[in-house]
Amino acid sequence: MIQIVDKSFETFLSAEKIQEEIQSVANRINSDYAGKEVVFIAVLNGSFMFASDLFKRITLDCEISFVKVSSYKGSTASSGRVDELIGLNTNIEGKNVIILEDIVDTGITIDKIFTLLRAHQPTSVQIATLLYKPDAFKGKNAPHYVGFLIPNFFVVGYGLDYNERGRNLDAIYKLKGDVPTQNTMLNLVLFGPPGAGKGTQSERLIEKYGLVHLSTGDIFRANIKGETELGKLAKSYMDKGSLVPDEVTINMLRSEVMKYENPKGFIFDGFPRTTAQAVALDEFLNSLQTSITLMLALDVEENELRERLMKRAESSGRPDDADPAIIQNRINVYKNETAPVKAFYEAQQKFASINGIGSIDEISDRLYQAIDELK
Ligand code: IMP
Ligand code: MG
Repeated sequence: MIQIVDKSFETFLSAEKIQEEIQSVANRINSDYAGKEVVFIAVLNGSFMFASDLFKRITLDCEISFVKVSSYKGSTASSGRVDELIGLNTNIEGKNVIILEDIVDTGITIDKIFTLLRAHQPTSVQIATLLYKPDAFKGKNAPHYVGFLIPNFFVVGYGLDYNERGRNLDAIYKLKGDVPTQNTMLNLVLFGPPGAGKGTQSERLIEKYGLVHLSTGDIFRANIKGETELGKLAKSYMDKGSLVPDEVTINMLRSEVMKYENPKGFIFDGFPRTTAQAVALDEFLNSLQTSITLMLALDVEENELRERLMKRAESSGRPDDADPAIIQNRINVYKNETAPVKAFYEAQQKFASINGIGSIDEISDRLYQAIDELK
């Protein structure tokens, strides 16, 4: 515990944790902007430490400029207050800009900077911030690269101040007594063999719990179609017939997750498929101060699956539903794939097998019960 002026603060994020997270932000930026010219714009005062530690880890062809936003009274009575960007000493026209912030709170500062930068006609503008308080955010420009998502409480250290003090601390501290809002997110991993009713049941879970559905397959397709940097990267592997590396997949998932402002939770579909991915997902969710709540696996006997799929083939016309050999292969792939991931969540007591035989309502009720038991 430390004392700054009249207030007590307690440790919140250690120096090591901060450095680790900065490395991960740098890796993402280095990969997203590979081969591009980047201008970093660090917003003073608070961001100087983050900017320095991050910049050391950037391997791109880049420049950095340090700016301040100043607000002054306009010359006429009607002009009100005028914002001005001070210190921008490099030409950003046609360049990719990354704004560096220590913290995004209400997002007002960032919105002002966006407006002011637009006049200089950069090609693109993204925000990288060490800390982000989504509960306080009311802005138009949410940060794209975030070190830590934090609850809405007051923090100091590592560049951030309380009455101009505390900026020199190498860790981040939070005001003592500020209670972190509980992690109320519900994050589910849903598994089920082909024909288990995963699609139907995930729709119900989404509706009942207000969750966001994240299917890695859909995200891949959307990124490739939209020709995003990540999409191009993923496609370069797929074109060679190789598996997309976990790092690329998790980065896509991360940018998708960051699109949602106050999510009630996510339902992960088709991910994680390996233990390495499950570990990466844990690390990522940890950096957002949350975690996987539960892995749900719909359990349906193989004979029943075969019957259901053959029946579905009559109406779906899907050739992979009609061929018994293909069905068997899909079931085997599922079993081999899920086994290690299931073991991973079982070890954390976060695994529930749900009997997937019965009416749609009966199965939904079993799923709800498994989830509600945790609350
Ligand atoms: P904004 O609300 O996103 O515009 O953030 C405005 C500024 O408030 C930030 O750049 C910080 O300087 C300051 N700020 C917001 N939250 C905190 C905090 O928890 N500790 C210290 N400074 C903060
Ligand atoms: Mg600041």
